[in-house]
Amino acid sequence: MPNLWGGRFEKEMDAIVEKFNASIGFDKRLYNCDIDGSIAHVTMLAETGIVTEREKDDIVSALEGIRRDIADDRLTFTTRQEDIHMAVEETLIARIGATGKKLHTARSRNDQAQVDVRLYFMRETKEILEELVNLGQVLIDKASENTETLFVGFTHMQHAQPVTVAFHLMAYFQMFRRDIERLIDTRRRADRNPLGSGALGGTTFNIDRHRTSELLGFCAPTENSMDAVSDRDYIIEFLSAASISMMHVSRFAEEFVYWNSSEFRYIAIDDSFCTGSSMMPQKKNPDIAELLRGKVGRVYGDLVALLTVMKGTPMSFNKDFQEDKEAMFDAMDTWRTSIAVLSAMLLKTRFIADEINRHLSKGFLVATDIADSLARQGIPFRESHEIVGKMVKYCENKSCGFEDLNKDDLLAIDARFASITLPDLSIMGSVNARATFGGTAPSEVLRQIKTGKEWLDGIKNG
Ligand code: ARG
Repeated sequence: MPNLWGGRFEKEMDAIVEKFNASIGFDKRLYNCDIDGSIAHVTMLAETGIVTEREKDDIVSALEGIRRDIADDRLTFTTRQEDIHMAVEETLIARIGATGKKLHTARSRNDQAQVDVRLYFMRETKEILEELVNLGQVLIDKASENTETLFVGFTHMQHAQPVTVAFHLMAYFQMFRRDIERLIDTRRRADRNPLGSGALGGTTFNIDRHRTSELLGFCAPTENSMDAVSDRDYIIEFLSAASISMMHVSRFAEEFVYWNSSEFRYIAIDDSFCTGSSMMPQKKNPDIAELLRGKVGRVYGDLVALLTVMKGTPMSFNKDFQEDKEAMFDAMDTWRTSIAVLSAMLLKTRFIADEINRHLSKGFLVATDIADSLARQGIPFRESHEIVGKMVKYCENKSCGFEDLNKDDLLAIDARFASITLPDLSIMGSVNARATFGGTAPSEVLRQIKTGKEWLDGIKNG
């Protein structure tokens, strides 16, 4: 069978070109959207009198048959058909003849391909959003269970100040909350219908683009047809949001890896999320956390790939743009699966309080609390900082902790200890004292959890 655009051609396409040019291998997954787009298009063509009711009915029922056959794997496509749009149309024409040839009235593959991608985009991103919301809920639940579970807070990977597990998890909640907001914002801008843009300049037929927008569930038609067939901003925005979110996944995953190491033992990752070694029988490796840490690489790649593809391309459609799909599909699959796996792994992860407590006694975690206390007793903070620094040095030389220092030790460090006293040196006391807005005190983290939960419920309820 000749190509659907074969009229002005004398030669068949070269075999190597046919393979190179085709996108059917990866755009087949758009078939549902392609058929939905065509049904909306032909419905509108009938309503505006461009095709008859009868023709519309024949086309719609044939398209529904094609949809079923693709779903049941009864149709095989070849690279000669080039892409899913031509493959569906060619099958339609083979099945119902001349009537099928009317479907493409007032339409170009340029707007058709874009309406398919936008429909797919709106549907897939909704599911990614649901995964992100679920992760937010798992974080809220885990945090709620652990508002009093103490944890080591680090800066520079050095013991810094004590915090709680809930506080640490709520830090990730904030990151994923912003990811959700970015995705919602991207979806809001992408929600436009390119159908009816034609090849680039619109169409001479008196079509109703508002009607197809309504039929397809878009909030409005795109404003400018040249922009509509050339715009891939929304995919780039998506890839950018996905990259940022996968960076968050990667950071969180790295924490799972080191928390789970024999040096830390802060957590036990469930057996069902680890693998063994083929040689070393004792091993339980955090492979899943490591894979989550590494998956970000391909998503950054997808973003840079499409940014580079789009750079310098003139108006309007260029075949370069066919390269948008694999990058978008890959990032969608990766982001969605990674969030689902991360949620499931977190849900089954146990924080080992005894082991964490052992670590809390190291690293002079209450040093800032002592310095703050001295400052409250009248010593300028910069001087109290220096005094506590000397206390640390003194303890390191004696291999002891703050709690082992007696009055003589303190006086040897600084004569001002004659009149000043040390504060409560307990870890819980230190945590409770940080009750500033945004701080780690359980009372404050409960507020963060409450606000987070209210926000999340708002998203869930649309
Ligand atoms: N497969 C093409 C794409 O991915 C469809 C548009 C082709 N249009 C064209 N004028 N060659 O965008």
